[in-house]
Amino acid sequence: MKHLLSTDGLTAADAIRILDTAEEMAVVGEREVKKLPALRGRTVVNLFFEDSTRTRISFEAAAKRLSADVINFAAKGSSVSKGESLKDTAQTLEAMSADAVVIRHWASGAPARLAASDWIDAAVINAGDGTHEHPTQALLDAFTLRRHWSRIAGRTSLGEDLSGLRIAIVGDVLHSRVARSNLWLLTTLGAEVTLVAPPTLLPVGIESWPCKVSFDLDEVLATHPSAIMMLRVQGERMNAAFFPSTREYARTWGFDDERLAALEASPAKDTIIMHPGPMNRGLEISSAAADSSRSTVLDQVRNGVSVRMAVLYLLLSGDDSAQPTPAQEAR
Ligand code: CP
Repeated sequence: MKHLLSTDGLTAADAIRILDTAEEMAVVGEREVKKLPALRGRTVVNLFFEDSTRTRISFEAAAKRLSADVINFAAKGSSVSKGESLKDTAQTLEAMSADAVVIRHWASGAPARLAASDWIDAAVINAGDGTHEHPTQALLDAFTLRRHWSRIAGRTSLGEDLSGLRIAIVGDVLHSRVARSNLWLLTTLGAEVTLVAPPTLLPVGIESWPCKVSFDLDEVLATHPSAIMMLRVQGERMNAAFFPSTREYARTWGFDDERLAALEASPAKDTIIMHPGPMNRGLEISSAAADSSRSTVLDQVRNGVSVRMAVLYLLLSGDDSAQPTPAQEAR
């Protein structure tokens, strides 16, 4: 694998290899080994044309923990504001010897364009493109699910997929690259996915997606899914036609205090509440739900560093199983 552009087409074997490597990275982190030498002398460029907190910072932390040099590039304040093209920007970074380019772009397909071009030789990692995909978010979500449900099942071995899990993905599916990447990855790993959304926030062609679709959140919650993944309402990508009022959205589609109370009173004691962040508290999720003991929001952020370390390690160190694993290197 030279690039990571999407989870659509990622094989179960490749996904499990990334998750297992991330487990090793997490173990190294838990032993308080601050840095691994794996990527010493390599350069990772964070090329962000859209805002980010979690993804940009965790890629930076991941690269630094692997001893890589990191260059952070934000379009705001750069020559992109003067009209510089993606090609010229990429070639400028190539001239600075980038080994990996982590790109977030408002245009769906921009990372694939970069990877397919002869502008650069670096590995390209999609950190979120338009409404298309956010593969490392889906991988860290799968990692979080696998850790939680392995612990509940009393399993200690790596290499498990997500067979038997039922995941409800709720809200603004139309604009969500997180929903798309999760749908492809979770189903590849054996989970069953139900999308729950107002009809105006579902994409055209959803009938061909490998999932169930529901317009009734309470009906889906009554089936006690393994996880409820709330999506951010992407106000910046929509207009008033998508939903009439924030109050009505919160009441009909939000994971509010009432739904949290119903979940607490149900037999589904291990169901978790997920959110990729950033959250609109009081809209798609209430503060009580976001801060409850079932919420994995901060675990997801924490796991993002291990997963991104794994992705950088596997792409930049060569996919050679004869190499020492990160855990072996740390010993
Ligand atoms: N989940 C996510 O992509 O968050 P950021 O936009 O803060 O990176």
